[in-house]
Amino acid sequence: MSLFLEPSTRTTCSFEMASKLLGMDVINFAAENSSLKKGESIYDTVKTIEALGVDTIILRHSDDQIFEQLVSKVNCSMINAGAGKNEHPTQGLLDLFTLFQEFKKLNNLKIAICGDIKHSRVAGSMLIAAEKFGMKIYLCGPEDLMPEKNKITENAKLANLDEVISEVDAVMMLRIQNERHESLGITPESYFKTFGLTEERASKMRPEAIIMHPGPFNRNIEIADAVIESKQSRIFAQVTNGVFMRMSILDWLLGEEEK
Ligand code: CP
Repeated sequence: MSLFLEPSTRTTCSFEMASKLLGMDVINFAAENSSLKKGESIYDTVKTIEALGVDTIILRHSDDQIFEQLVSKVNCSMINAGAGKNEHPTQGLLDLFTLFQEFKKLNNLKIAICGDIKHSRVAGSMLIAAEKFGMKIYLCGPEDLMPEKNKITENAKLANLDEVISEVDAVMMLRIQNERHESLGITPESYFKTFGLTEERASKMRPEAIIMHPGPFNRNIEIADAVIESKQSRIFAQVTNGVFMRMSILDWLLGEEEK
């Protein structure tokens, strides 16, 4: 059961595609027409879905701690498809896969993560993964959008994108998560000029370095139109890899039961 209580294009569709390619059935929970609208809690919704007999619940929710709250209370498996500002582990795995596909290693890669890191579950998962795999992370963007000190892992440090762009293996751009905080008080034009991956900035990257973005992207706000579809961009490859990665996850979790 695919239970998305926040908007999604890539994650929901790639889980559905992955399930179908594996010959599994997937039910897409229609939140807008569900009994959540009548006041049913997320806990009771999940317990009800479990009672229907599903093997796994793929859940996206705005609460950072939703998995800690629910996992021990249900018997079927649950897959984290994005929890608040906290983690997005399947995105983290597909990002690692994309980097490995490119560089045939993860250890010692230098990655600049740029933008709204404070509110990004993608950055949260990447920081955890990068520490495990010995990658060096530069966190770039407006001071107000940098993570709290206790969330900055030992292998990560704050940096100015212009000072590190010529040495990194990958630049991972993030959108500003306007739905999670007050306005920054900076115009989109000014943000783009100061913090965005403009064509001029991208031209300073090493030729073998790659450009990533988990999506959805806002063209010409955090990343230039032309950069998204440039030779160095792996943004759409990340989407394709998302299907492979989610196939692996579903097969690992449910494959034996399905055979
Ligand atoms: N990267 C990502 O999670 O995209 P969606 O919100 O479209 O699923």
